[in-house]
Amino acid sequence: MIVALNNKCNLGKEEFIKYVEELNNIKTTHQMILAPTFINIPNVKTTTLDLAAQNVSSDTNGAHTGEVSAEQLKSYNVKYCIVGHSERRDKQKETNEEIKLKIEKLFDQDIIPILCCGETKEERLDGKEKEIIEEELSIALDSLDEEKKNKVIIAYEPIWSIGTGLIPTNEQIEEINNFIKSKYNNKVLYGGSANDSNIDELKKCSSIDGYLLGGLSLKPSNLQDFVNKL
Ligand code: 13P
Repeated sequence: MIVALNNKCNLGKEEFIKYVEELNNIKTTHQMILAPTFINIPNVKTTTLDLAAQNVSSDTNGAHTGEVSAEQLKSYNVKYCIVGHSERRDKQKETNEEIKLKIEKLFDQDIIPILCCGETKEERLDGKEKEIIEEELSIALDSLDEEKKNKVIIAYEPIWSIGTGLIPTNEQIEEINNFIKSKYNNKVLYGGSANDSNIDELKKCSSIDGYLLGGLSLKPSNLQDFVNKL
């Protein structure tokens, strides 16, 4: 299983260094991927965690103030990169077309994208969740060659579940994951309020290939319990 940790915009330098030491002590056979904020990437000293970024520029190096390119990420040994997180789609108004460009730039540097998708509460109430997810995935992925397409890790993150403590039923998760897997040959992570208390129930979903954790990523001792239960 993949356990990917999305720190979001958290942890200053000293806190982060201590945090990574704690993560390094976690005992697990699962693959752990750490996605810190850009500024903390050079402070990851580890032999057990794979390094990810939370975002990348849709441009290459050049006159793009405030951006970080895939080439720059590569030079820091970043192996994975989250793209299309709902928080960026919402607040930074990222479009599916922009996300597609980011994925291309990542593949130019052999960095594996972790592509987020998922519906709002309203979209689910309107029965539009599959339509939304299909659009997000098809624009981002369908023009890639098969080899690259299959490498992308997809993360199903229902927006109404992120940071809310609300968890879809296992049937709802299986329905979406199986819908995704009927179209794409990819690993699918689940993200949204997953933690060491609800993992016993979540892990009954056979379609889940791993987790993308937000809040729990900041609590190493709970993370140890989480991976123990996986
Ligand atoms: P929470 O685990 O805090 O709900 O966040 C999930 C998430 O957005 C991971 O990318």
